[in-house]
Amino acid sequence: MEQLSLWEAEHLGVVFARTHREQLERKYQSILQERPDLAEKVSYRANKGLPLLRLYRYKEAFAYTLVTDILQAHANRGTLNVFDPFSGMGTTLFASSILGMPAWGIDRLPVGVFVANTILEMLEIEPGTIVDAYQRLVPVVASLPEASVAEDVAIMKIAFEPQVLRRLRQWKSGILGLPSPQREVMTLLFLSILEPCSYTSKDGQFLRLRRDKTIIFPDAAIAERVLAAERDLAMSRSLGWRRRAPALALLGDARALPNPPVPEKPNLVITSPPYVNRYDYTRSYSLELCFFFVDNFEQLKQLRHSVLRSHIEVKVDPSEQPSHPAVSELTQILRARREQLNNPRIPDMITGYFVDMEQVIRELGRLCAEDTLVYMVVDNVRFEGELLPVDLILCDIAEAHGFQTETIWVARYKGNSSQQMGRYGRVPVRESVVVWRKVR
Ligand SMILES: C[S@@+](CC[C@H](N)C(=O)[O-])C[C@H]1O[C@@H](n2cnc3c(N)ncnc32)[C@H](O)[C@@H]1O
Repeated sequence: MEQLSLWEAEHLGVVFARTHREQLERKYQSILQERPDLAEKVSYRANKGLPLLRLYRYKEAFAYTLVTDILQAHANRGTLNVFDPFSGMGTTLFASSILGMPAWGIDRLPVGVFVANTILEMLEIEPGTIVDAYQRLVPVVASLPEASVAEDVAIMKIAFEPQVLRRLRQWKSGILGLPSPQREVMTLLFLSILEPCSYTSKDGQFLRLRRDKTIIFPDAAIAERVLAAERDLAMSRSLGWRRRAPALALLGDARALPNPPVPEKPNLVITSPPYVNRYDYTRSYSLELCFFFVDNFEQLKQLRHSVLRSHIEVKVDPSEQPSHPAVSELTQILRARREQLNNPRIPDMITGYFVDMEQVIRELGRLCAEDTLVYMVVDNVRFEGELLPVDLILCDIAEAHGFQTETIWVARYKGNSSQQMGRYGRVPVRESVVVWRKVR
C-alpha cells in the first residue's frame, strides 16, 4: 500500500513537473542560441595564461575574455557603468577597469573581495616592489613570532605538518608588518601557497584531504610565487594593462545590496552566481579564511550560513516557498524520492536557492538603470535523473521583476557524475549565459 502511494505521488509529480519544465523549454526554445565559442570562456581555465589573474586560483571565476568580449560588443553605448553582484576574484571589475569602464561589485566571501581589490591594485604597482618586500622578510622570518589563526577549525589541525604551520604563521607575522601595498600583495601570494603547502586539494565540490600529496615548504613556495608575481607585473605592462577607470569590490550580500559607492546607476551587469550544485565556498576556501579572515570556528560557521543558499548545510524556514511552479514541483518529486537522493537536504537547498535568487533579481531591478543589460552565467543541474533548468527558471523569474530575456547563449553541455550516468544515461545539462534587458 505504502509502495503504491509512493508510486502514485511520484507518477503524478513527474507528469506535472515535466509539464512545467517542458513549457519553459518551449517558451524559450527560439532564443536558445548554441555558442560553443564560449565554452572555454565560462570557466577559469582561459585565465591560466594571463598575468595577475593566474596568481590566485579562484576556480569558480569566468574568463577575462568573456568580459572583454561583452564590453567591446557594447562599446558604442558610451560609458558603461558595470556592476557584478557576485564579483568573486573580480574578473569583471578587472577587465572593465582595463578597458576604461568604471565598475564595482560585491561578494559575500572576504577572500574574493580581498583578491579582487589586490589584483586591481597590482595594475599600479611598480615592478621590483614585491621582490623588495620579500627580501626584507627572508632574513628575519624564522625568528618572528607565530601570528594567530583560527586554530579551533578542524581542518587547520590536520591540513599541515606542524613545522609547516609554524612557518606559515611566522610568514603571516612578517607580512602583517609590511607597509601597504606590499602587505596586500604578499598576503595574496601567501593565500596562493596554502593549497600546495597543505595536504588539501580543491577538488570538484570539496576541499579534500590527501595525505599522499607531496607538499612544498612555505619558504620555497613563497619564493616561487614572488618570481611569478614579478613576471606578471612585467607582462601586464607589456600588454598595456593599466587601471583606466575606478573599480572596487565590497563585502556584501547580493540579496540586500549596499548603497552604491558611485553616483551613477549601473547599466551593464556581468556576473555569475553560485551554482545550485552543493558547492560550499566556505569549505573550499577554509584555509584562506582561517589564516586571514575569520578568528574562530564560530565566525566561519556564521559565514557559511550567510552565503547564497547553494550548498547542503543551508537552513530553510518551512514558510519559505519558491515562487516558480517548476521549482516547487521538482522539490516535491525529490522529496518523494528522499530515500534515493544522495543527500536528503537537496530539496531544501533548491528551495533556498531560488528564494535567494529571486531576491537578488529584485535587488538588481531596484539598483539598475532602465535598459541595463544583464549577462549572467548559470549552470543547470540534475538530481536523481531530474533536470533542473536553472537558466530558464531564472529568466522566467526575471521577467516577473521588470526584465526581458533577450537571448540565452548555450556555452557548453556538461556531463554528469559517473554514478548518475550509469543510472540515467548521458543526458547533458546546459551551462548558459542568460541575457536580460531591464524594461520597466
Ligand atoms: C561563480 S562565483 C563568481 C566568480 C566571478 N565571476 C569571478 O570571475 O571571480 C560566485 C560568487 O558568489 C559569491 N557569493 C555567495 N553568496 C553570495 C551572496 N549572498 N552575495 C554576494 N556574493 C555571494 C561567492 O563567494 C562566489 O565568489
